[in-house]
Amino acid sequence: MNMKKQICIEETELHTSEGRRNFLKICSVALSALMGIAFAIPLIRTFISPALQQTVSGSTGLLELGSISDCQVGIPRKIKIKDVKVDAWNKFPPTEIGAVWIIMDKDKAFTVFTSICPHLGCGINWDENSGKFICPCHDSFFDIEGRVLSGPSPRGMDTLEAEIKDGKIFVRYRKMRLGVSGKFPA
Ligand code: FES
Repeated sequence: MNMKKQICIEETELHTSEGRRNFLKICSVALSALMGIAFAIPLIRTFISPALQQTVSGSTGLLELGSISDCQVGIPRKIKIKDVKVDAWNKFPPTEIGAVWIIMDKDKAFTVFTSICPHLGCGINWDENSGKFICPCHDSFFDIEGRVLSGPSPRGMDTLEAEIKDGKIFVRYRKMRLGVSGKFPA
């Protein structure tokens, strides 16, 4: 083998091993980047995801109000509504979020009203003596079926979606817009 040929072979080997080194370097950088992304995603989700959620979420499903056997025909019964509140980072213990009036008629059919007055949002009470619902803030009066009898309330008491399951009453609690004649979710 002459000298020129020997140099040529050595140069070729040199290029081959340099190419291999570069390839391994690229692979190692790519692998490190992938591992970095794999670790970063859960971390980013931990910090970003709560911020994308609703700040405070109230009830979304049906809430249990109690047994139907606790209701008496024609006598409204007030029940406080409690629900778990969740904000971006915390889950709070059950908190009172409102109240409802349940009425059972003689056919054992149930009506559930929110206790919030449609005028400006005060709490509506049942007055046994007069047999009427009364809002004490501006004297709106409602009959037992929630119809306005007198006062500034622009509509009757708001009914809520309710279900009976295994002898228990459940309600889908929600707040409605105030001061308007139509019933729209707030
Ligand atoms: S808030 Fe009930 S009558 Fe005004």
